[in-house]
Amino acid sequence: MINKNSWEEAAARFYGRNPLPEYGPLAPSEDELNLFGEVEGSAVLDIGCGSGHSLLYMSERRVKELWGLDLSKNQIYAAEKLLEDCKAPVRLFESPMEANPGLPEGYFDLVYSIFAIGWTTDLSKTVENVFRYLKSGGRFIFSWEHPLHSRVRLKEGALIMDQAYHKEGPYDHEAWENTAMMQQSKVSTYINTLIDQGFHIERIVEDVRLSEKDRERHSNRWYSYEKATMVPTTLIIKCRKP
Ligand SMILES: C[S@@+](CC[C@H](N)C(=O)[O-])C[C@H]1O[C@@H](n2cnc3c(N)ncnc32)[C@H](O)[C@@H]1O
Repeated sequence: MINKNSWEEAAARFYGRNPLPEYGPLAPSEDELNLFGEVEGSAVLDIGCGSGHSLLYMSERRVKELWGLDLSKNQIYAAEKLLEDCKAPVRLFESPMEANPGLPEGYFDLVYSIFAIGWTTDLSKTVENVFRYLKSGGRFIFSWEHPLHSRVRLKEGALIMDQAYHKEGPYDHEAWENTAMMQQSKVSTYINTLIDQGFHIERIVEDVRLSEKDRERHSNRWYSYEKATMVPTTLIIKCRKP
């Protein structure tokens, strides 16, 4: 509920921020990674779809159906407006990702999530839901802030680690003015949760992109070029339901 209120307030600030083909600030993009491959004719589901810009990208790639869910009413409203002229049918749900708001199971060719999954209060349940939504052979691709990034800070050119990497669970994110509880998980926790649910992991990306263009477009007080030269900003994982 705390996060819902924070996201209702923050929705406008995040309108169209880093959607596909971007995976995250200062991270390689889908244009370079091509993790999705051919998506034409696919039924796709966006977890934490925000203002709908990643779904718009999927629409431009001629998917068959556009589905999305998001905790925030304001985000869903923005996404509905953004996607109103799409040819493919659009189905959007105001819902936490920890629950199934009525999505079909064994149905989707592709489920993805761009910079949203770390908000879940129950990673296992969320991954279990995704596994159920997918068809056999379907793919799940997500990006989230790299777990090292939030645990270290840059001070006078050096990295200071003032939070244990081992510590997991909720924390109040300092970059947010209102209380916003994010979940801290280790890289191994993401990987093992996917494995425990039955996913086959196909690719893990923790690279950064530090061109002059990336530097201008993405650097803000939380994600800086200087920090990204030393730790990844983004973790990207691609996996498949066997
Ligand atoms: C950075 S935005 C995502 C941007 C979007 N994926 C895109 O590609 O443009 C994170 C989104 O996660 C949503 N969110 C936060 N907690 C959530 C939860 N528990 N369940 C579903 N959505 C959640 C927020 O409302 C917000 O829209």
